[in-house]
Amino acid sequence: MSERAIPLSDDKATRYSDLVVEVAAVVAGETSRTARYATTISLLVSAFDDRFFWCGFYEVDPLKPEELVVGPYQGTLGCLRIPFGKGVCGVCASRRKTIIVPDVHAFPGHIACDSRSNSEIVVPVFDRSGRLIAVLDVDSTKFAAFDEIDARGLERICSAMMSG
Ligand code: SME
Repeated sequence: MSERAIPLSDDKATRYSDLVVEVAAVVAGETSRTARYATTISLLVSAFDDRFFWCGFYEVDPLKPEELVVGPYQGTLGCLRIPFGKGVCGVCASRRKTIIVPDVHAFPGHIACDSRSNSEIVVPVFDRSGRLIAVLDVDSTKFAAFDEIDARGLERICSAMMSG
């Protein structure tokens, strides 16, 4: 499938709304969580390739519930494990809240997997019972690349990804 089901809108909020529909339709009935994650990353990166330098999931390790382990991603080599409370991803996992970081170099404890990343957004992912199962991490080479429209859009996409 090379063509998108829905053409990309010039308006960012509309683009997210269209992606919510697309993600839900593509993953509907899928039993593999990995397939849901990988598909969502592919759709996100192709929709926002100008800003999304690194985009992927860190999953809560079922064997170490206070540790994240890297899941499906697109981008340069990411670190494999992040303890809860460390880096932007680990803080997001501890707080269970979306974090927008306009300048990663100013974030205490930021984990620099690729020095070209300058800003970042991390969104918690919950299963249908409301349990934290992963975080979605998006990094950009641009400073202040993410705003509240991205936060709400990515939260809705993570929710659509786990529905159906
Ligand atoms: N920047 C992240 C680490 C993961 S990588 O950027 C892929 C953080 O501080 O949580």
